[in-house]
Amino acid sequence: MTTPNTLLQLVRNGHRVDLTPPVILAPMAGITDLPFRRMVARFGAGLVVSEMVASQEMVQAKPSSRARARLELDGGTVASAVQLAGCDPHWMAEAARLAEASGAQMIDINMGCPAKKVVGGMSGSALMRDLDHALRLIEAVVGAVSVPVTLKTRLGWDDDSRNAADLGRRAQDAGISMLTLHGRTRCQFYKGRADWAAIAGVVQALEIPVIANGDITCAQTARAALAASGAAGVMVGRGAQGRPWMLAQIAADLFGTPAPVVPVGAALVDLVAAHYQDMLAFYGRDLGIRVARKHLGWYMAEAGGEPAARRFVLTQTDPAQVLAALPAALMPSPAMPTPLHAVADAPRKSAA
Ligand SMILES: Cc1cc2nc3c(=O)[nH]c(=O)nc-3n(C[C@H](O)[C@H](O)[C@H](O)COP(=O)(O)O)c2cc1C
Repeated sequence: MTTPNTLLQLVRNGHRVDLTPPVILAPMAGITDLPFRRMVARFGAGLVVSEMVASQEMVQAKPSSRARARLELDGGTVASAVQLAGCDPHWMAEAARLAEASGAQMIDINMGCPAKKVVGGMSGSALMRDLDHALRLIEAVVGAVSVPVTLKTRLGWDDDSRNAADLGRRAQDAGISMLTLHGRTRCQFYKGRADWAAIAGVVQALEIPVIANGDITCAQTARAALAASGAAGVMVGRGAQGRPWMLAQIAADLFGTPAPVVPVGAALVDLVAAHYQDMLAFYGRDLGIRVARKHLGWYMAEAGGEPAARRFVLTQTDPAQVLAALPAALMPSPAMPTPLHAVADAPRKSAA
């Protein structure tokens, strides 16, 4: 098997952003907050992208929007992008300026979100139905900042209007530096399987790098997605939930970067405790406890710990009690079968 090209750099106006290895954390509203991006960056990735931030709310300083766009990763070795959503060129441009001023190395524009609330406001994937308006937004953002601007979209609105190549070509001409393509249409939402082969048509139509996205959850699916699409890299979303090391594992398998040490046992307990405390510090105690539950649930489902301890962790409101229950909730008791993924992960445990 050939090793795909490891190097991915975007250059614009003297800003060089290194996305090597080209394994990117997907923006996921309610999930890829700063604590989770920090955790993924700690293991390694080419780029982490913020949750989508509503442009007007960001400019009007709604605190939750500003929090979503925060960028303080540890050490700064992993590139960081802020993703903006909206339908008004003025707010998109202003929000992009703000994000650049706060240190975003890249701005990503959301033209893929299928949610009714977003589409109803003529944002997200609704923009695929009005490419002229989509272009006005792209031009406004590209004109507002000097860092690279990227675009994330889907194959089209539905099967009768797969226009990602048209959008991509026009976006490229307007100065977009990279396109990420989720291999589904808007009308598919998250149903069916991502069509990686359909991404190939867009790769061939464009000169800028195209990143393949959708249903990439491990090295095997990443390799298959790259082979089918010819894309310059992969973006991973749900596959990283409860497994922030997954991007680094994919990068090691595909691009030969050092394999991460996958935490198990006491090391996993330490990692989850650190993530939990980071979430409490970021959101404050009360909101933090609630936001943390989905991440704790994913970690525990992966690890296959004691069911009663898992239930306790997900219902407790005292952080000290949650932390105390983590060892039982994350370490399988000897009587329980080892989860299959742990077997699959085992050979990859090597020094970082
Ligand atoms: C809970 C959730 C939230 C998401 N939020 C965003 C978002 O804010 N911006 C965006 O462009 N895509 C968003 N997506 C789509 C993902 O970025 C990605 O395109 C999709 O999940 C397919 O990739 P995956 O199969 O690797 O998860 C979201 C997906 C999920 C499941």
